[in-house]
Amino acid sequence: MMNAQAKRLREQLREVLAKEIGFLQEREDDAIPDSWKAREEADYLQRLSDEEVQTAQRSGIWALPDLKKAPDSFRALAALAKEAADFGRRPDVSARSPNDADPLFKDCLQRGVSWRKAWELWWFTRQVSDLIDRETRIVDLGSGHGHLTAHLARAFGIRACGYEKNSDFVSRANDLHAVFNPSLSFKTCDLLKEDPELSAQSLLIGLHACGILGDLAVKLCAKARCSLAFVACCHQKIPGDFRASLNEEDPIRLDRRILGLANSRNADHPVEGEFEQNRNTRIKRLALRLLLRNRGIWVTYGDEAHGTGRRHLRDTDFKALAAEIFAKRDLDAPTIPECERAWSEACGRYPKIERAALSRETFSPLIELYIALDRAAYLEHRGFQTELVRLFPPELSPRNLMLRAKCAEL
Ligand SMILES: C[S@@+](CC[C@H](N)C(=O)[O-])C[C@H]1O[C@@H](n2cnc3c(N)ncnc32)[C@H](O)[C@@H]1O
Repeated sequence: MMNAQAKRLREQLREVLAKEIGFLQEREDDAIPDSWKAREEADYLQRLSDEEVQTAQRSGIWALPDLKKAPDSFRALAALAKEAADFGRRPDVSARSPNDADPLFKDCLQRGVSWRKAWELWWFTRQVSDLIDRETRIVDLGSGHGHLTAHLARAFGIRACGYEKNSDFVSRANDLHAVFNPSLSFKTCDLLKEDPELSAQSLLIGLHACGILGDLAVKLCAKARCSLAFVACCHQKIPGDFRASLNEEDPIRLDRRILGLANSRNADHPVEGEFEQNRNTRIKRLALRLLLRNRGIWVTYGDEAHGTGRRHLRDTDFKALAAEIFAKRDLDAPTIPECERAWSEACGRYPKIERAALSRETFSPLIELYIALDRAAYLEHRGFQTELVRLFPPELSPRNLMLRAKCAEL
């Protein structure tokens, strides 16, 4: 059952989010918004050294040794954020890697799976073993290349089906896994249009399943009265503009900007270079906004790259990127001096913006936990026992909060 801490946090998070929703909706366009400047902690944040900013971005604002110098209101927020980020941590989930000789881990590593992914599969298997009891079939939502589906089918000797909307991924999953195992299948399916086949004997799973699939999973689980083990990701990937709470007593509606914040936290120990690359991409975005503005085109945060993929944005040199984006917008190519001016202005402004943004980023674990607790409460109201656990160490991925549910009445 949802424990007393979970119930208290749900109330507290709802109250905090309702109060701060206007502030959270604002993003920097080319300068720090007034609502950010008005925060009690604004001056404290601007005084942080580069090293302190990095610590706060990597490990959370609560990791700053001199947080005692911050205003009381911000210290209280930071303490709540730390509690949310730690919620569901279990002593057995430590940063240690599984033993290479462990046959389960060897199986996870099969067929071109990266070490990081193999660890995720290994932890996932450990955390669901007690959910497989009367369950006879695993149903994986957003199964990607099918590594998790296939591994669980082998580990538990159980039938499994992966549902995935990308047909290339489904073909690859079939070639990699299903040809070797007749009790395994993968199906191309847009889960927003078609329901998966479920019964009370199913275990419904998802690992890093995007946005709306989280709400869909709990609704499907409630309808089928089946078990659930689900780790959400990319909360902002929703069809409409807002995510409304699943529970009627809770009036909170979070827009995509706020939902994206739930995903924004860096890993404590990112892959080498990842942290710097992410920062550099944000500076590129700011420089693009400034460049467009100098041509009289006002774009808001997030619209500057005009549909350019995240990786392309990260890996392409700024001048080449600017030329591509201007071409997409049917604008004359930016000149080299124009690009250089925008880049140097962005580099000058960014350190102040990133300090001010720490206020908003402190809400990241609060939003992620609030959504998970909303989903858990929805299932509890319908006769399920639920639990939220940190599936694996944050070093593997900060998106590690698993919602486990079992129908209590069966
Ligand atoms: C981040 S990936 C995770 C893949 C896999 N579970 C893993 O952990 O490697 C999310 C997957 O969900 C799929 N997906 C997103 N929306 C979907 C939908 N509406 N129907 C089916 N699959 C969807 C995506 O195509 C993507 O492969």
